[in-house]
Amino acid sequence: MNKDQALFAVSERGRALLDKLALQELTENNHLKILTALRKSDKLEASEAAAVLEVALARQKAIKSAKFAQAEKMFFTRDALEQASGEKITAHRRKRFQTLAESLGSAVAIVDFCCGVGGDSLALCPVGQVTGIDLNEARLVLAKANATALGLSDRFDAVCADVAKFSSANVNHSSTINSYQLAFFDPGRRDEQGKRIFKAEAYQPPLSTLKNWLRKDELPNLKGLAVKVSPGIDYDELRQLGLDCEVEIISENGDVKEAVLWFADLRSAGTDENTTRRATLLYGDKQFSFDDSQGIPKLDCQTPSRYLHEPDGAIIRAGLVECLGADMKALKIDDEIAFLTSDNLSNSPCARSFEIISCLPFSLKKIKQELQKLKARNLTVKKRGSPIVPEEFIKSLSLKRGDGEDLTVILTRVKNEHTAFITRAI
Ligand SMILES: C[S@@+](CC[C@H](N)C(=O)[O-])C[C@H]1O[C@@H](n2cnc3c(N)ncnc32)[C@H](O)[C@@H]1O
Repeated sequence: MNKDQALFAVSERGRALLDKLALQELTENNHLKILTALRKSDKLEASEAAAVLEVALARQKAIKSAKFAQAEKMFFTRDALEQASGEKITAHRRKRFQTLAESLGSAVAIVDFCCGVGGDSLALCPVGQVTGIDLNEARLVLAKANATALGLSDRFDAVCADVAKFSSANVNHSSTINSYQLAFFDPGRRDEQGKRIFKAEAYQPPLSTLKNWLRKDELPNLKGLAVKVSPGIDYDELRQLGLDCEVEIISENGDVKEAVLWFADLRSAGTDENTTRRATLLYGDKQFSFDDSQGIPKLDCQTPSRYLHEPDGAIIRAGLVECLGADMKALKIDDEIAFLTSDNLSNSPCARSFEIISCLPFSLKKIKQELQKLKARNLTVKKRGSPIVPEEFIKSLSLKRGDGEDLTVILTRVKNEHTAFITRAI
């Protein structure tokens, strides 16, 4: 979508058409019909009709995804919606900004580098005055319209600039640069074909761009910076880039969503703790957190006993499985494998637990015999540290559906032996 299309979509006419489209279900089958009607009945140019349909589709998706409580008033494109941070997570991140802003005393100025359609900027508006910067003019138009739709237009300003070249020397709002105390950075992590970018230096712009901002000559009053990155961020790459920060991996209802790098006074949630890794699990309105501020406990390995526990992905990616084990009074099954085991069930919301029915060395034939004996109904296969592809494994078992219970086969390694656990999920 280009800037003119975005301007049309957010205009009074565009909004009226969007309200009209909101009354009907948009499906792949009726796109063409809708485009034709927009052109013939509503007399739109092709580019205007395409823009209205794109925003209508993205809005419908946003409403279904529940990423934004007021999605029905907001403006997105499909890509921008996918990249935008959801409100549950932005509300969680905002708490640190709020705490630091309160300690700074006066109204704070915040800069949101790569603001897109404003998911993060708008979430930060309750904390201070936000300037969102992006290269994409259409997204900035949508971001501004979103601020207006949510009643935040007096708290948000949008600037079109290349954040990689951002400095008081070449940004024409240089007088405000001196005032930015808090910053957020959400670089693009998809290439032109929409494929995920894994290397942080291949992000757009590269992650190391933030080093300019941490240097005091670029943002002289900066007190804290937070950066959204992929949850699969490579800790070695961060080390190589010389980035000294806390890494927080966040999951929402069991799905790993993102990692945040916290720098300067936003690090360690404003405490003196020296946290380098944290896992935060958001479940409904509950929150669970693990970190390495007290070090990571040593956890012994034990031959799997009655229960196997699969930690929440945020804990695994933050490298804090031992902290959860200590909490659950569970041990590891192998030094290299992120499964825990215990004799007692702890009902921790931070792990999925499975009761072990049998444990066998990996053998397709033996696993099949055992599952047939148990008359498995639905079968789920999980793997960790095993090269087997679950879908292919299920196919090669070619099991008939039995009238027994639903079972989960866990393929993993114990003391370097490929092992299968036949379990029931708790
Ligand atoms: C992941 S999206 C940001 C999403 C945003 N935080 C939100 O919640 O809506 C990344 C954004 O970076 C912008 N971008 C990429 N390279 C840029 C650059 N050099 N300068 C400014 N913006 C850039 C893209 O246009 C895109 O909108």
